[in-house]
Amino acid sequence: MKRIVLFASGSGSNAEKIAEYFSDSSDVEISLIVSNNPKAGVIDRARKLHIPVLLFDRTLFYNTNKITQLLINQDVDLIVLAGFMWLMPVDLIRAFPAKIINIHPALLPKFGGKGMYGHFVHEAVAAAGDVESGITIHYVNEQYDEGQIIFQATCPVSQTDTPDDIARKVQALEHMHYPRVIANVLASLTLDQP
Ligand code: GRF
Repeated sequence: MKRIVLFASGSGSNAEKIAEYFSDSSDVEISLIVSNNPKAGVIDRARKLHIPVLLFDRTLFYNTNKITQLLINQDVDLIVLAGFMWLMPVDLIRAFPAKIINIHPALLPKFGGKGMYGHFVHEAVAAAGDVESGITIHYVNEQYDEGQIIFQATCPVSQTDTPDDIARKVQALEHMHYPRVIANVLASLTLDQP
């Protein structure tokens, strides 16, 4: 069984789509959802999906290696960030090289970096007058939104689109593609192993 751990800080709609995608799988399981936000919608969704939840605070995450150790002990194959708002600690990134992926709601390298999350991204795209936006799925490294790109998909943006309109189009792309791309990344990890 391959194990995926999801990190999420918000509503968790992507986490839910990912969990649903793998719910019938006999060789992949979502073993845990971890969150820094006790009020996050993802926690309710996890309960309904019968997936265990682990909550942590800033001190535990950045001043200890407990999360890293737990993920190593649980033999986690892939860490998937689905709306996780904090930078991953260096020890965690080093313990899981090329095994942490993230989704960003724009076409990186545009509209990425610190402070570029959620609505800020879609507002920036609308303000720039860009004719398209989309999603970027990428490996996670020590900088926000700078790891190697795995997959991008685009959607058209018209001059009359509001940031909310763009958000809806981008979210549809996320739900459509993220689970399948995760499955592909997992399959390629399996191929890489001796
Ligand atoms: C998504 O737009 C994702 O790209 C970004 O955070 C958002 C999470 O949404 N990283 P949800 O919590 O999965 O609904």
